[in-house]
Formats: sequence, structure tokens, C-alpha cells
Amino acid sequence: MTHTVAIAFTFTLSLFCLDIYAVGLDRGAKVYAERCVLCHGNTGTGDGYLPLRINDYPETNLFIKIKAASRKQVISVVTKGVNQNMPPWEDELSLLEIADVADLIIYLREDTESAVAMLNKYTSKLLRSLEEGKVIFETRCSLCHGMGGKGDGRLSKLITQPSPANLTQSRLLRASMFDIITLGGQAVGRSSKMPPWGEVLSVNEINAVTDYVKTLRD
Ligand code: HEC
Ligand code: HEC
Repeated sequence: MTHTVAIAFTFTLSLFCLDIYAVGLDRGAKVYAERCVLCHGNTGTGDGYLPLRINDYPETNLFIKIKAASRKQVISVVTKGVNQNMPPWEDELSLLEIADVADLIIYLREDTESAVAMLNKYTSKLLRSLEEGKVIFETRCSLCHGMGGKGDGRLSKLITQPSPANLTQSRLLRASMFDIITLGGQAVGRSSKMPPWGEVLSVNEINAVTDYVKTLRD
């Protein structure tokens, strides 16, 4: 009898732990989709937008030439970054988020198929958001910045000093980019010819177009 109770208890407890683990992985998947895909790709194979666009980009495939193998090493790399290419996340993510995304990476390496299924939920949302960003960009921004963002839109002949920025060369941090798009040039000490979009576009739309603009970078 006690035995049965003990087994039932252990069973429930392990289900409970599995549950907590799954919740953590799910949070990790969300962080990964929002912060890491740009460089490490949707499934960790390194085919993110940046490495695909920039020649001689360092290896971002998380499955080969593994330097950070243990959970502790992954947490340390994500916290502190590696040289200028892998950014440190300690100021942007909480300790819990860093631990969750580290668990997700380990899970991805150990049980790739299940982890990818978990990631899909978030990365497909991201893709939809990038597509939305593209539509916004092409309808609202390309008149000045050009379809490819090179600053050569039709209005660039009229707007000079400064002309519409060449966004493929922009190195603005995401937060500053979000601000200039939301508030316009003048509010951030730049030209008033960069209009504010905060009243026309929702925060989600501005996030989407900001992410899209980042994919135009050389
Ligand atoms: C701007 C591009 C970029 C972003 C964004 C980025 N990484 Fe990286 N990451 C790199 C590069 C480049 C390396 C390889 C650095 C090296 O070894 O020179 C790397 C390496 C790593 C490694 C070590 C891989 C190994 O060899 O074991 C881990 C783990 C990692 N990144 C996790 C993450 C996580 C988690 C995120 C999101 C929170 C993230 N990265 C976001 C570029 C990026
Ligand atoms: C009427 C023309 C015009 C339109 C439309 C326009 N921009 Fe701009 N944008 C500018 C000009 C001009 C600048 C340069 C401002 C400066 O340097 O002072 C600029 C600068 C920027 C910058 C700063 C880049 C950097 O690195 O300095 C970003 C980002 C940007 N625009 C994004 C957008 C987005 C996204 C949209 C559409 C939602 C948009 N712009 C629509 C004219 C425009």
C-alpha cells in the first residue's frame, strides 16, 4: 500500500518536474526565436540572415565545432558573449531567460527534432512578422529609402541634406532604430525629414518593420 502511494507520488512528482522543464524550454524557444535566429538561424544551423549576407562571418552553426558544450559553458557564452560577433546578453535578458535559452540549445543538440518543433511555434510567427515588416517597408518607407533600403527611393531626388539614410549601411542598435522610426528624426536630434510613425503604426508593426530593416543590412 505505502509502496503504491510512494510510486504514485514519485510518478506525479516526475510529471510535475517534466512539466516545469517543458515550460522552461518553451520560454527558451521564445527567447531564441526573438533574439538568436538572426545569426544562428531558425533551427540553429547557422543560416541566419546576417551570416548569409556577410562574407566571412564567423561560424554560427550551433552543432559543429562546439566550444560551449556544458550547460554552464552555454550560460557563460550567452551571458558574456564571444568577441564582437556574439553579443553579451546579460543586460538584455534575465538570469532565468538565459538559463532557459541555454537549456533550449542543449535540447536542440540532443533531441533536434522535438526542439525544432518547439521552436517552430515561435519562428513561424517571426517569419509572418518579417513578411508584415516587408509589406510595411515597401508601402511606407521605400518612397524615400528605396525598395532595397539603399536610400535611393523616388523622393531621394527631392530630399537632400540629409538624404534618406542608406539602411543597408545603418549600424543603429535595435532600440535606437525603433525610436527613430516611432518618434521621427527630429525628436531624436536628427532631420525632420524622417517622419514619425508612432501614430500611424502599432508597436507590433514598428517592431516588424524594424526587424525587416535589419535584414536589409549588408
Ligand atoms: C549578431 C549575431 C549573433 C546573435 C544575435 C547571437 N549570436 Fe550566438 N554566436 C554568434 C557568433 C558569431 C558565434 C561564434 C563566436 C565565435 O566562436 O567566434 C556565436 C556563438 C554562440 C554560442 C557558442 C557556440 C559553440 O561553439 O558552442 C552559443 C551557445 C550562442 N552563440 C548562443 C546564442 C544565443 C542563445 C543567442 C540569443 C540569445 C545568440 N547566440 C545570439 C553570433 C550571434
Ligand atoms: C519622407 C521620406 C522618408 C520616409 C517616408 C521614411 N524615411 Fe526614414 N529617413 C529619412 C531621412 C531623410 C533620414 C535621415 C535622417 C538623418 O540622418 O537626420 C531617415 C533615416 C532613417 C533611419 C535612421 C538610419 C540611420 O542609421 O541613421 C531609419 C532606421 C529609418 N529612416 C527608417 C525608416 C522606416 C522604417 C520608414 C518607414 C516606416 C521610413 N524610414 C520612412 C526619410 C524618410
